[in-house]
Amino acid sequence: MDHQTDRVRELLDELTRGEKLSLVHGHVDPTRTATGYLPGVERLDVPDFRLVDGPLGVRVPGTPSTAFPAPLAAAATFDPELSRQKGAAIAREARALDQDVLLAPGLNLIRVPHCGRNFEYFSEDPVLTGAFAAASVEGVQSEDVIATPKHYVANSQETDRAVVSADISERALRELYLPGFEAAVDAGAGSVMTAYNRVNGTHMSEHGDLVTDVLKEEFGFDGFVVSDWYGTESTVAAANAGLDLEMPGVSMQAMMTPAMEDDTDIDDGGDLDGERSDEPADEMPEEMDFGELEGGMPDPENYDQFGAALGEAIDAGEVPESRLDDMAARVLGQMAAAGALDGIRASEASAGSEDERSESSGARTDGALDTDEHRELASEIAARGQVLLENDGVLPLADDADVALIGPNLDEPTLGGGGSSETTPVEATTTADGIEARATSEGGSVTVAQGVQRIEDKSIFDVGEDDADGEHADGGSDADVSIDDAVAAAEAADVAVVVVRDQATEAADREDLRLPGEQDELVEAVAAANDRTVVAIRSSGPVELPWREDVAAVLASWYPGQADGEALAAVCYGDVDPSGRLPVTFAPESEYPASEPEQYPGVDGTATYEEGVFVGYRHFDAGRGEATYPFGHGHSYAAFEYRDVEAVDESTVAVTVANVAERDGREVVQAYVRPPEADSAADELDRPVRELGGFATVDVPAGESARVTISLDELAFQQFDEEQAGWTTTDGEYAVEVGRSAGDLRLETSVDR
Ligand code: GLC
Repeated sequence: MDHQTDRVRELLDELTRGEKLSLVHGHVDPTRTATGYLPGVERLDVPDFRLVDGPLGVRVPGTPSTAFPAPLAAAATFDPELSRQKGAAIAREARALDQDVLLAPGLNLIRVPHCGRNFEYFSEDPVLTGAFAAASVEGVQSEDVIATPKHYVANSQETDRAVVSADISERALRELYLPGFEAAVDAGAGSVMTAYNRVNGTHMSEHGDLVTDVLKEEFGFDGFVVSDWYGTESTVAAANAGLDLEMPGVSMQAMMTPAMEDDTDIDDGGDLDGERSDEPADEMPEEMDFGELEGGMPDPENYDQFGAALGEAIDAGEVPESRLDDMAARVLGQMAAAGALDGIRASEASAGSEDERSESSGARTDGALDTDEHRELASEIAARGQVLLENDGVLPLADDADVALIGPNLDEPTLGGGGSSETTPVEATTTADGIEARATSEGGSVTVAQGVQRIEDKSIFDVGEDDADGEHADGGSDADVSIDDAVAAAEAADVAVVVVRDQATEAADREDLRLPGEQDELVEAVAAANDRTVVAIRSSGPVELPWREDVAAVLASWYPGQADGEALAAVCYGDVDPSGRLPVTFAPESEYPASEPEQYPGVDGTATYEEGVFVGYRHFDAGRGEATYPFGHGHSYAAFEYRDVEAVDESTVAVTVANVAERDGREVVQAYVRPPEADSAADELDRPVRELGGFATVDVPAGESARVTISLDELAFQQFDEEQAGWTTTDGEYAVEVGRSAGDLRLETSVDR
């Protein structure tokens, strides 16, 4: 780390004011590959620096890359190691495309099921969120790419996201919304992205308490804090609050202009000569019309805060010069940590002379794009993230089954939702291709029927384009689509598999939890025609399932990415045991907390988090709502018995899991902590009945058993006391409940605090 500080200190002594300013706001990327770009300082061998989306894969316009399953699908595996591998893989692909910073992981706690970006996040629970956030960050940073946990903090909805104030108690912030970010910082994240929204009235880009006092000083974050795009609300307040880097730093017009000649002269305002050309590009409309997504879009005029305006604020004494030095140092420090400054990574840095260091430098990784390893990982996560919500025994399918495969979008993979996380795979397996390949390989057959109109993607990038007219990849069209055809196919088959989906995008929330279009009608009609009907749901989060008692099996597949059909087939035919578990509670829309407009989406610009810490299963376990499928729920094709639970020490429990079925299985063992107060009356309850303390996945062959040890996160024991402004832990005996979900707890032990 000395090497980084010395090198950065040397540079700070050499850099001009203009050059420092050029390092703290974005510029137009001449190659048009980056989402955010810093031109570097050629005079001092500071290279350019590129930031790129996103949580599902690298989004470089025009260049395909591996389209991984959504983070919510990864969280459903309850195996953070897979997310560490995914983070490392996406980082390798970023490096292969000459990018330095990955704008991921997204890790906002899932507060409301409608949020259009829930698929980009991990869970309603802070312990599960923190485990996946940390693993993702470790993976990304291990490949010399800077990870960017986002969106700090409480970007829990897309409705009015750029203006809404999330009014949250300190306790709920501490116990629910901040822990994921602290875990990400502890895991070594080099960047953190502020959210668009306000928290308790103050924009996050100007929130000195949360950005400087909590994130930087209390959590010890020494990287740079970058704004969300067009989310820097001011110059002086934002700089003094601790924001370090303004993105994108240029107008939408400038980003749409043809690439400039490679001009590297930096003017006093920290801009490349001629860069501030706001002449609208030919193809750039004067005003971007985001249509129905308008309410969720930031102000595109927020792009000129940390250039000349910051220099003027410093000259006027409104922002200390030392703040600019700190901003530039934080950016340069991460360039050094990623090995971008001079090829010497933090891990390789050593004391000694420059020559010694240059000899010892470990070449920065070159990355790799769309490798077999990446494709296999995408497929494994997609398969293991599927949650078997119901199964009357119809699954796994017989190898030679005659299948009616039904659904509106079978000719495409469900890659993800709309917005900045969009991916474009090099190759993908459509739902139909995946099922057909598996079925016919063993003498089965597949009849495909669309049934209802296509469900079209929504996206901030598509707004204003003509709505798709139902034209299909295979040249068919919606005109000749009918539920009757689907019913006929179901009647003639051994089993019907209906694949349905929702519509989610950044910048908007889902209006309700119903499946769009006539998909519910389709499922009902097919289930009436064949009592062996399986429904596979591709969604951004919880959906309502009005037909769930009329079908034989239900799979939650989330957004499976490029391996769509392959992963669905693997689970349906039993090649992979469904070991996914719910990272979010499924319930009827009316049963969730935050059901009043004042809570969500807010009234007069304020969303009041009245529910406090009672989010997700914390709300349902307090008897405040009726869940359909509880947090942590998911069936296996095997069957597990739990035996011999014990408290190994005050923070560790162990249990034996026996697979009493005749087929191998993978179990997700969960341990919940129930505090002494939990036995008080529900209406007097001031803390959740139980909180996830830890979890572990384990493969158990048929007829065998395994001893599983689980560490309990202290967060599950603690409470944040607002009067003392600190953490407290009630003395007493804490029950530790071990089982398959928050609603299926098998054994209990206890530990003392
Ligand atoms: C978007 C998103 C953020 C993304 C950034 C760059 O508005 O909120 O997640 O990384 O801008 O595309």
